[in-house]
Parts: sequence; C-alpha cells; structure tokens
Amino acid sequence: MKRRDFMKSTLGTALGAGLSAVPMALAASSRPTMIESEDLNSRASLKDEYDLHFVAIGDWGRNGADHQVQVAQQMGKWTANHPNDFIISTGDNFYPSGVISEHDPLWHYSFENVYTDFSLQWDWYPILGNHDYKSDPDAQVRYSAISRRWKMPARYYSKTFKLREQGEVLMAFIDTNPLIPEFYKNSEYGPHVAGQQPEKQLAWLDKLLTDSSAQWKIVVGHHPIYTAGPRTENYDTLAVRKVLEPILQKHEIPVYLSGHEHSMQHLKVSDKSFQQFISGSGSEVTPVKKGLAYSRFEASSYGFMYFAINKTQLSVQCIDHEGSVVYQTIVPKK
Ligand SMILES: [Fe+2]
Repeated sequence: MKRRDFMKSTLGTALGAGLSAVPMALAASSRPTMIESEDLNSRASLKDEYDLHFVAIGDWGRNGADHQVQVAQQMGKWTANHPNDFIISTGDNFYPSGVISEHDPLWHYSFENVYTDFSLQWDWYPILGNHDYKSDPDAQVRYSAISRRWKMPARYYSKTFKLREQGEVLMAFIDTNPLIPEFYKNSEYGPHVAGQQPEKQLAWLDKLLTDSSAQWKIVVGHHPIYTAGPRTENYDTLAVRKVLEPILQKHEIPVYLSGHEHSMQHLKVSDKSFQQFISGSGSEVTPVKKGLAYSRFEASSYGFMYFAINKTQLSVQCIDHEGSVVYQTIVPKK
C-alpha cells in the first residue's frame, strides 16, 4: 500500500473507531494535508499529454570518451526539462569487454561518474549487449543489489507500467546474445552463453506476450532485427531475425527497440507489423546506409531517444549530443 493510501485508510479507520464525536467544523479545520515531497518538486509540473516517458540510450560505456560525456550531459538537461519516468539501456553497457564483477572500477568510470545529473538518478532498466558478454554478464544483474537506480533482476525480465487513466504498457527486456548460434563457438562469448537455453527464453517471451492484456507491448533487445547500419546482412542480425520476428509478428508487437548499431534509426518493413527503433549511439558512431526501402530515418549521430506513450499513440524523438532534436515521429495505437 502506498504511503498516501495508508494515511487515508488510517484516517478513515480512526474516524470510524470513535472520533466521530469530534465537532465537524473542528475536524475539517484540523484535517491533515496529504502533500508528499514529490508534489513540491518542480518536476511535478513537467506534465504533457503523455502518461509514460522514458529515455533510451545504448552502446555507451567508454569511460566518458568518444562523446559519451556530451550525450550524458544532454540526457541530463533533457530529462531535467521534460517529464521522464525511467531510462532504458539497450546494451553494450561497458566497452571493451563488459565488467568482471559488481565491484569493477568501470561502474564508476563508465556509469556512475558519467550519468551524474539528478534527473538521471531515476530507475535504469538495462539489457545485455555482446560486449557485456565478454566478461561476467551476471555481474550486471548483481549490481542491482548495490545501486538504487540500476534495475536488472535477471538477464531477461519484464516490467509493466500503468497508464494514467487506465491501461498498461508491458515491456519485455530480452537477452538476444544466447539467440545467436555462432556465439556458442566463440572463444569470448561462448563461456557466458553456455547453458542459456534460448528456446526457454523464447517460450517465456511468447507466454508473456500471450498472457498480457496491456494496451502497449514493447520488446527491447540489444541486436536489431533489421538495420541500415553496417550489419544489414550480418550473422547476428539474421540469427535474431530468424527467431524473434515470428514472435513479434504473431503478437502484432508495435515496437521493437534495440541498440548494437552505433547510430539512430527508425525502420519499418512494409509487410511487418512492428516498427523498429535503434538507439545505439551513446558514445561512438558508425556509418549508416542511405536509401534502404525499409528505413524512415537513419543518422550516424551521437545521442539518445526519448519516448512518450499514452493510450492512443507513442511519440519518439531523437536528440543528439548538442541537444538538437534530429528526428521525431508518432506511432499510432492500432
Ligand atoms: Fe553490440
């Protein structure tokens, strides 16, 4: 029970238990207000027509180098001036090779000491990228017990968020690394994907999406299903597409969000139900291809994405390392 509800029910119980003898005028004048500290915070006035807001950043941990700091600063400014509920990391959280433990100094150099703004102290929901699999992926799960803001209960997990009036947004945070058969033979990834049972994760995802009655169902994974970057026909893109696309199609998922390509992209294959967004330029950038039929936007720009959702539509904005909105679009609710 939330504290505010608890206070209301306690007051109701006390009145019902004998305080009804207090004169009504006195009771009215002494009735406590129900102000919480968040009601007094200036952030409370940052409201718009959307119910849920989040930032998505990917492929970032470089000890601040390669524009990581500049992007972090713009994220801080943006979230200080716009409503924001949480932050998603689309993976490759630590370059070059993940973290060795929950005490690895990279937590300080690449995360805590970079995303320092107060407006970035809200919940982070991270997933794992391939670079995170070069050391101990479970160390990033264990860090959740050390950090208040790092919320990664398992290598894959789900979270449901309430919309303001009614309805919910279901977010499935998946681990695409074990879905790539080549990883099992790779000397760096192999030891950490061993025993991961990809079919079990896919069955979990299918059941999660079947059982949920949420108005919006969004899947977040590190590897893209399509890309206008260098990996258009790469083995990892093709492997993830093969197993994930049928599930997204079956459940008519409207949005798949990924990282991995170091750019910002908005893609829509004409005969597929889902739109794909790639937010993978939290530090370094790599080239993009122009003119692909399924690409609506592609930019080799450092930056992050900002999402806002209500029951009728989802808004997406791409913001670069100088704070400029370089692209925006709306995904209507089907
Ligand atoms: Fe990656």
